[in-house]
Amino acid sequence: MVQLTLPKNSKVNKNGKTFKAKDGAGETRIFHVYRYDPDAPENPRVDSYEVDVSNVSMVLDALIKIKNETDATLAFRRSCREGVCGSCAMNINGSNTLACTKAMDECGSGDVHIYPLPHQPVVKDLVTDLSKFYEQHAYIEPYLQAKSDEPETEWRQSQEDRAKLDGLYECILCACCSTSCPSYWWNGDKGGKEEYLGPAALLQAYRWLADSRDQLDNERLDKLEDEFKLYRCHTIMNCAQVCPKHLNPAKAIAEIKKLMVNRPEGESAAQKAD
Ligand code: SF4
Ligand code: SF4
Ligand code: FES
Repeated sequence: MVQLTLPKNSKVNKNGKTFKAKDGAGETRIFHVYRYDPDAPENPRVDSYEVDVSNVSMVLDALIKIKNETDATLAFRRSCREGVCGSCAMNINGSNTLACTKAMDECGSGDVHIYPLPHQPVVKDLVTDLSKFYEQHAYIEPYLQAKSDEPETEWRQSQEDRAKLDGLYECILCACCSTSCPSYWWNGDKGGKEEYLGPAALLQAYRWLADSRDQLDNERLDKLEDEFKLYRCHTIMNCAQVCPKHLNPAKAIAEIKKLMVNRPEGESAAQKAD
């Protein structure tokens, strides 16, 4: 498994605080957790918590236990606790994943190391600023667009065409894939110009290209056609390795590249401008 880098604003001071478990605790594990507080004098640091894990199944349960019983200042996002909302994405023992579906049994027998998603600005502790990620999602226009008149009832789709969306529609936009992609680290944020959109946005782009009801394929491909937005994927495959929903963004990116080269002659905006 690839070891990932620290968040952008990190030079970690390892002299963080240490919290011991209460007397009489059962089975304990140590959690080393990245801490960053914009108002604190010493930043960032790693705090270590000894936690009674006798009744803890998932890593998120351990974080909630720390927050409830030991240190209320610890900040992290979570909502559904079911692997559905994507908000608890973080880096656990060197790999991006969802804390709520990461079982303690999967964390080996040693200490557990928890960091925010790599290479994103940190707001506080394990909470990263994903504004850029969401901007890139908005850029691909993630909604159905058609040129023909709206039907009186619903847009219809055959079962075969619906099946083409399997492996795409399940994405929960957790950002585990994009923030594990080295090409996205280097090319994903360049102040709005010549940026690589990253595996999550591109998987979503293909989700709409693959939808038989959407009629804007050509325009969607035009929006992806430059040297950076699509073509900075170098098939490193971290994205597919970490996706907690077992999706394969690299494959979706390859499918978009195929659509791009198979466009009829003269169809792209670039060719029309010549
Ligand atoms: S493709 Fe997977 S890892 Fe990437 S945002 Fe979607 S669910 Fe998360
Ligand atoms: S396959 Fe492409 S998108 Fe996935 S991690 Fe590699 S470069 Fe990034
Ligand atoms: S809390 Fe919703 S995915 Fe983990």
